[in-house]
Amino acid sequence: MSDGIDSKDLAYSPGFGNEHVSEAVPGALPVGRNSPQRAPLGLYAEQLSGTGFTEARHLGRRTWLYRIRPSAAHPPFLRTANGQLRSAPFRDTEPDPNRLRWGPLPLPLPGGDTGTDFVDGLVTVGGNGDVLRREGIGIHWYAANRSMDDRVFSSSDGELLIVPEHGAILLRTELGLLGVEPGHVALVPRGLRFRVELRRAADGARGYVCENYGPPFRLPDLGPVGANGLANPRDFLAPVAAYEDRDEPVEVINKFGGNLWAATYDHSPLDVVAWHGTHVPYVYDLRRFNVLGTVSYDHPDPSIYTVLTAPDADFVVFAPRWLVGEDTFRPPYFHRNVMTEFMGLIEGAYDAKAEGFVPGGASLHNMMSAHGPDRVTFDRASGAELRPQKVDDGLAFMFETRWPVVPTAYAISAAHLQPGYDAVWDGLERHFTG
Ligand code: FE2
Repeated sequence: MSDGIDSKDLAYSPGFGNEHVSEAVPGALPVGRNSPQRAPLGLYAEQLSGTGFTEARHLGRRTWLYRIRPSAAHPPFLRTANGQLRSAPFRDTEPDPNRLRWGPLPLPLPGGDTGTDFVDGLVTVGGNGDVLRREGIGIHWYAANRSMDDRVFSSSDGELLIVPEHGAILLRTELGLLGVEPGHVALVPRGLRFRVELRRAADGARGYVCENYGPPFRLPDLGPVGANGLANPRDFLAPVAAYEDRDEPVEVINKFGGNLWAATYDHSPLDVVAWHGTHVPYVYDLRRFNVLGTVSYDHPDPSIYTVLTAPDADFVVFAPRWLVGEDTFRPPYFHRNVMTEFMGLIEGAYDAKAEGFVPGGASLHNMMSAHGPDRVTFDRASGAELRPQKVDDGLAFMFETRWPVVPTAYAISAAHLQPGYDAVWDGLERHFTG
């Protein structure tokens, strides 16, 4: 349970990529060294590395943890059911060039004493790459109606970019607490243990997850844009140290090699009293995104909306913005891209689709598949009077990835798959006057 903790009451350590430093008890953090002969307050020192030790300094990620007991003290992990969670390599189905669209994943029905927590509620759409080669991504939905009680989760396979669409959640991580609401995203680094608690279990919680198997997300370079703009580093909030001192059984679920493994610790592994480092989780409010765009003509490529980038995937947000382009078709243009696009809608509507794309829903436009505005949007935008126009009726996002996405068998047979998606492009009339 979330103990009535309000997001506004949470303290944070701001700044993407910073060397964050935090201690929940004064004096818990060693000064001047990482691994003293005896760590302060009888704590154990433990390093959690997210990149290879010899990675370039500006790309390196690691955090030193000072904890009540070391993570190493645990019984064997045993395989546990994967549910609908799948991982790369994806071979459930044949790679398919067709455009796909889904309505929202149904929220789990109230389940009495059981219910569905975040881990149970993970359902995989598809992905690419290979977890054992640490490349590619997995795309998941989650839908939950209970908090993770007495268990925690981590993915050895990748970092998790969590995009809530419905229901506020509290992430209790080894490094502290993050309050995450629809309109926020949370980035949980590879291997970090955390528990997802629902603020209001009765209302359920739902959203999207990009599991990035490869090198971690970072802020994009800005080039000629300059030193500011897009997602500003200080708006990424890391937690401050907060620990549990509980000698009670806690099930630790570890996603490893595409499968879930479980071991029961005799204490809470969220027992980190102090820490410092760069391998940390963040919460970011997408409404803080500094949207840049044309002030002359033409719709820029959507890379201008990149919040976070990684070699295998970009995370892009379509946030409220002004459209002022002159003699310009202002919605996204028709296109066929080498990149593959998974889109989701957090709230409202998206300006390239007049109908059918609803909050909680998603579309998948695979490598080189032709898409763009639907007929209604094309007709409206190509005949519109081009006054300055505020687009502020929705918040959409995209996981864009460099390799095709192979959907899971679940995804192409789910009841919420929308049949006949191709029809949104029906009726695009011939206007050729030559
Ligand atoms: Fe697209």
